[in-house]
Order: sequence, then structure tokens, then C-alpha cells
Amino acid sequence: MDYFSVKELLGSNSERKELIARGWIRTVRNLNYIYFIELNDGSTLNNLQIVCDNTLENYPELEKLSTGSSIEVVGDLVKSPAKEQKWELKGKKIKIYSIADPKDYPLQKKRHSFEFLRTITHLKPRTNTFGAVMRVRSHMAYAIHKFFYERGFYYIHTPIITGSDCEGAGAMFQVTTLDFDNIIKEKKSIDWSEDFFGKKTYLTVSGQLEAEIYACSLGKVYTFGPTFRAENSNTTRHLSEFWMIEPEMAFYELKDNINLAEQFIKYVIKYILENDKEDIEFFDKWILNGLIEKLEKVLNSSFEVVEYTEAINILQNSNYKFEFPVYWGVDLQSEHERYLTEKHFNKPIFLINYPREIKAFYMKQNDDGKTVRAMDLLVPQIGEIIGGSQREDDYDKLLEAIKRFNLNEKDYWWYLDLRKYGSVPHSGFGLGFERLIQFVTGMTNIRDVIPIYRVPGFAEF
Ligand code: 4AD
Ligand code: MG
Repeated sequence: MDYFSVKELLGSNSERKELIARGWIRTVRNLNYIYFIELNDGSTLNNLQIVCDNTLENYPELEKLSTGSSIEVVGDLVKSPAKEQKWELKGKKIKIYSIADPKDYPLQKKRHSFEFLRTITHLKPRTNTFGAVMRVRSHMAYAIHKFFYERGFYYIHTPIITGSDCEGAGAMFQVTTLDFDNIIKEKKSIDWSEDFFGKKTYLTVSGQLEAEIYACSLGKVYTFGPTFRAENSNTTRHLSEFWMIEPEMAFYELKDNINLAEQFIKYVIKYILENDKEDIEFFDKWILNGLIEKLEKVLNSSFEVVEYTEAINILQNSNYKFEFPVYWGVDLQSEHERYLTEKHFNKPIFLINYPREIKAFYMKQNDDGKTVRAMDLLVPQIGEIIGGSQREDDYDKLLEAIKRFNLNEKDYWWYLDLRKYGSVPHSGFGLGFERLIQFVTGMTNIRDVIPIYRVPGFAEF
């Protein structure tokens, strides 16, 4: 006998006899000796209706069934007389895997607050919203790989453990196997050369520097992996562990980088609208009214490119009361970014050519001696979704920047070498995967778009 997912059965184009379905019960009710069971197996948002009458062998046992219980059903797929669905399964045999006791199974009510659901992360993907988020996430990951693959990029797995700080911001988790309890007990001082790697190491904040090695040999590459930030940010846009997509391209200048980023964002949005309409319609209906219209508008707009200096002028002339002051040289706050993309331009914008003091050491310096060839993509509702730049390809200027940022030159010897032997102009960017998922689902809290979240003070599950 063949086993089918609920998605396959609901999408069937003919009746079928004697098949198996398996899943978890969403609801069960008995009307005039007939059981109606809504079965979900996660393959799709929709449930399969199972109908069983009292000719079923173990009919009395069905009394035990409750929301959350797991079952296997043997039955026939038949046309449903109900309007809500095309197909239903006429159950002939039900095997109960396990009962979820209604006395304490937490997912009883139809709607729970996201705050409550975060306390039961191990069960929340059984709800409509979180099932939908995770299916969208999976489709988006596929679309990302497809985009780069179709354009001749190579997928590079950069290391998770690193000795260098890519962003130079020092917000890194240290990786060590030293026995601190013992060091303290014996009142010894710490000798990092005795640590596992013979030096201090960290969880990476970005795969960019290593991706540059491969861009400067394979041409066009990208990474897609977990990154870690030990900053104490408790916002709806920050995680301590998140996933980043980082393309890096030899011979690309800033404008090529901008073009690629715009095509990329539009490609993945189009992909999800075409390939997971059901889940996106769910978000449009329950999470953010007008979501589909918003996404279609993004597809049909051409993103604005705005100089940092011009953005500062716009903000200063806006007469809008910002919490943080605006002046040339300031690192823009989320309120500033959102004003620009939501209120002023009302579409995604690339902000380019930032002051060099507020951006990372590796960005290519402009001839004005004040700004670097940075590009951030800001989108409505989220703010910054992409950060990137053309990279400094001049050995002397890069070395000067490393010193100016008080970084240890020794940690970057190989990175400098890339500028010594056959240096080429090159560019890249990093897209925060969770912020992208927030954007396409309308989910407001970043903790709700990653399977299991990590934030300061919280590493449960
Ligand atoms: O702007 P960031 O820090 O840029 C880099 O790390 C570069 N090395 C990328 C590159 O050029 N290859 O981070 C890039 C993106 C941000 O725009 C944001 O979307 C996301 O990563 N991001 C975070 N997402 C969730 N939680 C955090 N704490 C994040 N920090 C950055
Ligand atoms: Mg950034």
C-alpha cells in the first residue's frame, strides 16, 4: 500500500483506493456516529479531512483521539461533498501512534500569542503560522541557491571558527577548550598558545573575508551559512545566531554589486509568489494585510540609489522628530533608515558612499578621502536587509585602514596577500536571511522566522 503526504493527496487529480496517510490531528469531532478528523502532516498548510463511520474495526478506540495525537490512516481518497475541500479520505483503518493528552497538550486553543508560542518552540511548528514560516524559509533557501547557480556562481563553505574579526567590531563569541575552573583554582595566568588552535579563536561574524579568497580565484562565489554576533541587542531585527548569504565577485565594481543585489531580491520574491502562493496568501490574510500587493510593488519598482550625504540632507530637512540626532558622519539608526525607505521614497533604496569611519576597514576608499564605496539596501518595515561594498584592492590603502581601525595586522596577512599577488577590483554583499524571511512573510519579530532562536540570555531548545 502506498503512503502519500497530505499535500500530494489534496493535489490529487483522481480518486484513489487503499492508501496510507499519516500525521497529527488538528481537530476531531463526532457527529451522529461519524468521526471527522482534520489531519495535518506539515507538508502543506491545509488539512486532510478523514471521515470514519462505525463500521471501522477499532471504532470505540477513536474516542481517545484528541488534538495533537498522531495517527496512521488507511482509506480511500474520494470526492468531498463539503464545499471547503475537493478531496477527503474515507477511513477504513486507523492506527494510533500516540495520544496527546488534552489535559496538558499546550496547543489546544485556535490562536495563541507568539510570545507564548516562543516558550514552546518544540511544538510551535505544528501551528499554521510557524509551519508556514518554515516552509517559506525552505523555499527561499532553494530560490537563493537556484539564483546563483543559474548565474555561474560557485557555492563556497567558509569556516565557522575563525581567527579574524571580519567586521572589526569585536562582537564575537570566543571558542576555547581551556579549562578555566582549573586555571583559576591553580591561580595560573591564561596562555592562549595552549588553547586548542594555539591562539584565540572565535565564531565567525561573516564569511566574507574567506569568500574573497575564492572570488579572487574562482571569479563568482557565494556563501550561505550561520554567523554569530555577541552584541547585546534585544530588538525585533537582531539574533545572536543568524544565517547570511554572501556573494563575492571578482571584477565587480559598486554599480555591478548594486545591480546584482536588486536582481537577486526580485528573483527570490518572484520565486516565492509563484511557488508557495498558499503560504504567502495565509500571511497576507492573517499577518500583514496587503503583503502580496507590497511584494508585487517591490517587483515592479526600480530601487532608488541614494548617496549617504543626500540622505542626511533629506533627514535634516524632513521636519520629522527623530529620537537620535542627524548629522553628517552619524551611523544611521533604524528610525532614520525607515523614514527614508518608508516615508520619503516608499520603496527599497540603496544607500551608498558612507563616511569611512562608520563602515568596516575592508571597504574601498573613494577619492574624496572621506567616504567608502559601501552599499546598504533598506526596505520598508525592516530597514537594513543587505550590507555590502566594493572591497579595497590597493595594498597600501588596506594596510593603512587596518592600522587606522586598530586591528592587528598579523591577523590579516593572507587578506593583504590577496592585494599583493594579482589584485583585482571586487565586490560583494551580505543578505540577512531572517530579515528577508520577515520581509516576505510580514512577521514582525525575527525570533519567529528561524527554527530555533538564539538571543542574549536565551539558548533553550
Ligand atoms: O551589514 P553586515 O554586518 O555586513 C557584513 O557582515 C558583511 N561582511 C557582508 C558582506 O559584505 N559580505 O551584515 C549583513 C546583513 C545585514 O544587512 C542584516 O541583514 C544581517 O546581515 N544582520 C543580522 N541579522 C540578524 N541578526 C543580526 N544580529 C544581524 N546583523 C546583521
Ligand atoms: Mg550593516
